[in-house]
Amino acid sequence: MQLTREEQDMLDGMYGRATQKAMQILATLGTIYGAERMLPVTSVQVAGVSYDNLGEAGLQFLTEMAEGDGRARVLATLNPAGMDMENWRALGIPADFAENQERVIEAFARMGVVTSCTCTPYLTGNVPHYGEHIAWAESSAVCYANSVLGARSNREGGPSALAAALTGCTPAYGLHLDENRRPDLSVYVSAGVQGTQEFGALGMVIGRKMEGYESKPIPYILGIERASLEELKSLCASLATYGGAALFHMAGITPEAAQFSPPEEVLYVTRAELEEAVHSLNLSAAEPVDFVSLGCPHLSIHEIARIAALLEGKQVTKEFWITTARPVKQMADRAGYTQIIEASGAKFAADTCCVVAPIRGRFKVMATDSAKACYYASSKNKFKTVFKPFDEVVLEALR
Ligand code: F3S
Repeated sequence: MQLTREEQDMLDGMYGRATQKAMQILATLGTIYGAERMLPVTSVQVAGVSYDNLGEAGLQFLTEMAEGDGRARVLATLNPAGMDMENWRALGIPADFAENQERVIEAFARMGVVTSCTCTPYLTGNVPHYGEHIAWAESSAVCYANSVLGARSNREGGPSALAAALTGCTPAYGLHLDENRRPDLSVYVSAGVQGTQEFGALGMVIGRKMEGYESKPIPYILGIERASLEELKSLCASLATYGGAALFHMAGITPEAAQFSPPEEVLYVTRAELEEAVHSLNLSAAEPVDFVSLGCPHLSIHEIARIAALLEGKQVTKEFWITTARPVKQMADRAGYTQIIEASGAKFAADTCCVVAPIRGRFKVMATDSAKACYYASSKNKFKTVFKPFDEVVLEALR
């Protein structure tokens, strides 16, 4: 790999131990993937934040990087933590977990990473523009940044994203290069798809169809007339979860789609397939729901407004988590939505979510509108799932 003088100096340790380690990670990745050089990045999203996933070994790595003078050189934001950093007691998080989670956040803060704790950085100020090279971890956000914003990121892991933050660069390979952003197959959606739940089911159907291919194809989706920000974030989360996708194009909707003609190879998605996907995530229609969660990916202010409208003057009967970024929660405070929602007994869980919080085995059946949350709730947390449209999930909390 051809390195600039500054990059070589980082590799030689002239910028401190942590920066050297970061450049070693990136140079190794670049060599493995045949990159010829590094690219400067303007934005980083770091994942691997919940102590539940990191454990002591992960925390030690972060502490060493912070003590080795690691310092972010570009805007770097953080994925959700394992708890609401202010209100963790109300969510039943154990004190020893909270202490360790705080140490994780402190290590990131020492490195100058904005401790935003959200998987929707694009809703809270980390919004790369079209064509910008970035290094994001968090699969749903990577898919959103590439597809909906037209920025360019590979699916980074926690260490490689942190390395990009500390050096300000990433190896030039994969989705950073024009030739790797071309669509490989057309996907005609003949079902009229509506709402976050159905867009999540669509991502699941397309993702599963992609599983049969040796190298991940980039889908060119046709037949969708309109899609809201919330529907697209739901689609991105499930397509990334079920198909490993980091980029799709959608005719008439995503910014790069007009550059390409629909590929000759064609797949179809029917209403029957969508219904089957929905059905497959309803693992426990017969058992009572004891946990309700909305906000995977983290909720927008529009979604919180809708929840407030549905809960106004009513009382929830189950544990109901509303997961979002803290700045979005602060907007909800100022709009009066928080007061309405909390008066109903529902709980805000800012900074975290039902997947990365340490709640394995605590509930039996979770209701949600998120296909991604269903996947992890059953595989990681051992919950059964009820997968419903957004409004019906809120009504489930009242039942
Ligand atoms: Fe975000 Fe947690 Fe879902 S990190 S995408 S809310 S699993």
